[in-house]
Amino acid sequence: MSDDIAQDTTVILRIHRFTPKPETKRTRRRPSSPFGNKSRNSNPFASSHPQRGIKGNRFTQDYTIQPRSGQTVLDCLLSIKRDYDPTLAFRYSCGHGVCGSDAVSINGTPTLLCTAKVEDYAKSQVQPSNAGNVDEGFRHTGNITGTAISDNSSASQVGNTEQAGDVNRIESHLPTIIEVAPLPGFPVLRDLIVDIDRMMEQIARLQPHLEADGKLAKTSDGKIDMFEYLQHPEELKRYELLSNCISCGICEGSCPVYAGGEAFVGPAALVATSRFVNDSRDRLTGERLEAIATDDGIIACQSVRACSRKCPRGIDVGEEMWQLTEQVKSHQV
Ligand code: SF4
Ligand code: FES
Repeated sequence: MSDDIAQDTTVILRIHRFTPKPETKRTRRRPSSPFGNKSRNSNPFASSHPQRGIKGNRFTQDYTIQPRSGQTVLDCLLSIKRDYDPTLAFRYSCGHGVCGSDAVSINGTPTLLCTAKVEDYAKSQVQPSNAGNVDEGFRHTGNITGTAISDNSSASQVGNTEQAGDVNRIESHLPTIIEVAPLPGFPVLRDLIVDIDRMMEQIARLQPHLEADGKLAKTSDGKIDMFEYLQHPEELKRYELLSNCISCGICEGSCPVYAGGEAFVGPAALVATSRFVNDSRDRLTGERLEAIATDDGIIACQSVRACSRKCPRGIDVGEEMWQLTEQVKSHQV
């Protein structure tokens, strides 16, 4: 592939933006009525933070970039923010797929900004067999007609064409559009930043910590080892992968039932429960299974399995939901 093709490679990042209206005395939330949130008593997972109805200005903004090989969407957003548009708001921390703070929707698929390679998303749009279908099971919402360059009068040119390198794998002479939107199912606070308070509260309500059974391990000389609870490697295997969950919310954003968490505690909280249900040291297995055996708990799961497709930690979330359902049934017998 020649450098010419690489230098011609143009990608339009189409960002869904949201600017909240400043809060005034008039728009500020009144203290809630004691009779207002009726579902609170019947739904143990209902949040004490009611869904925010933030008003503001929604629009999409295009930024034209010439990405370097291996660049992630996060790299591009950082370049845009640093050099062209400091008002662009997004969240990230580790930059390496560990903290889970930068989940968004790219071309309709929930994913992490820091692990989403631009060339992968651009490439998937120019192959005829994939056109309009970025990932199986997800609807593509972007416009790939290539008209945006002329529409993009205020677009910023970023990137270094001299270092474009392997981006020629994108194989496109037309601008490719990559659409970046906030994570679905969560209230948007600003641009790509969503409010995850509800999800974190639901996880916390299910006691995501070990309640050990009190059988203390002994050291080699027979003394109680206060710092170790021994486990067979086979027992560790049952929950080890689950303990890698980073609470990114991608499974919740993929789940058609979660949609804000009013009617379903959501797969992230259930994965946290499953992690301890499967831990042989934990003594709350029965209580944990009873806590999720509600209409708003595991019973609300419809086994769509969209939650499994993009978990960045490789957890088969749909399978875990199924296993939990079976464990709840067995516990009830
Ligand atoms: S199970 Fe996977 S997708 Fe869901 S919150 Fe945990 S890491 Fe994210
Ligand atoms: S920035 Fe931490 S996971 Fe992406």
